[in-house]
Amino acid sequence: MRAKSNPLNIFEFEKLAKEFLSKEEFDFIAGGATDEITLERTRRIYDSIILRPRMLTDVSKVDTSTTVLGESIRFPVLLAPSGGHRKAHPDGELATARAAGRLGIGIVLSINASYTLEEVADVASGPKWFQQYMFKDRGLTRNMAERAKGKGYTALCITVDTKGVQPKRERNIHNKYAITNSPNLPASEEGFWNNVSGDSLYDYGLSDPSADWNYLEWLVSNTTLPVVVKGIMTKEDAQLCIEHGAKAIIVSNHGGRHLDTTFATIEVLPEIVEVISNRIEIYLDGGIRRGTDVLKAIALGARAVLIGRPIFWGLAVAGESGLTEVLQILYDEFIRALIQCGYHDLNSVDVSLVGLRSPLENHLS
Ligand code: FNR
Repeated sequence: MRAKSNPLNIFEFEKLAKEFLSKEEFDFIAGGATDEITLERTRRIYDSIILRPRMLTDVSKVDTSTTVLGESIRFPVLLAPSGGHRKAHPDGELATARAAGRLGIGIVLSINASYTLEEVADVASGPKWFQQYMFKDRGLTRNMAERAKGKGYTALCITVDTKGVQPKRERNIHNKYAITNSPNLPASEEGFWNNVSGDSLYDYGLSDPSADWNYLEWLVSNTTLPVVVKGIMTKEDAQLCIEHGAKAIIVSNHGGRHLDTTFATIEVLPEIVEVISNRIEIYLDGGIRRGTDVLKAIALGARAVLIGRPIFWGLAVAGESGLTEVLQILYDEFIRALIQCGYHDLNSVDVSLVGLRSPLENHLS
């Protein structure tokens, strides 16, 4: 590890990563939209959810594994689609895929990756899904899905919270930050992302601002890959995802990077779980930094969670081994929390594990 000291947790990894990254890159990764209120709220909500540990249950053998769309993972964490891992380390997504493989978890490769989906597929050993957008050119949308399927990606993750509009990330505007293009896009699409403060409203290139539920339905019927919709924040949209053929959803606000002052994802999870009622799988991302956060999300009904920024912190500190360490820390924290709460697998973890209001408050009010 390149590090001067060994970070003990993901927050310490972030601090150390800051020393390895330029201010512009660090701000791009860490930052959120406008006042970053959603970012701050998300951590505050996780910290306010309280665990209710149970005693005298047999925890001598523990199984943290689960499945996502039928594929096994060692613990309920996936790596979130996120563009340009080379910002953090020259090995970029190759290191990411290898680290995920070492820990027995899956990756969701972004179309904005700094290596091609083919290059990453060649080194990935665990489950791999491909993430893209609903492009204005439906031919491109379908071709990318076919390309991913041809290289063994087993699900298509469609991010729907982009809407063709550039988010207002003020740190980037101050820093005059320019996003680099991905080798995944055809050369004809140069300039897809690189307009930080463009003068047209719909300046996020190929993402189709007119995409609606019919587009989702078209996509579902034009690919044989299961479609996972990323960016769902309401029970209404969760219901529509089912009606239009999605096989799973990711409850996500893009890590607070698009629209500020939304709820934290963990706050909206329970009502989405209720309306979905086990018909499709539900995953969640945003602000997961501790093993206890993973456990809280599972208790509230997520099948698995995804992590975004911590990937970059691990890569920035020490490439593949840095990210492996980040994932190992999360795994260790998760298994400890599971055991200390009195569970030996994920099947019986339910909402009774968490509380919000203090029992004292309930008692005295
Ligand atoms: C992202 N995210 C993202 N999402 C997506 O669907 N496609 C993408 O290309 C990217 N790119 C991206 C880049 C960077 C630098 C970050 C930090 C995030 C969002 C990502 O998938 C996820 O929703 C959030 O990162 C989850 O929040 P945390 O774990 O970062 O708090």
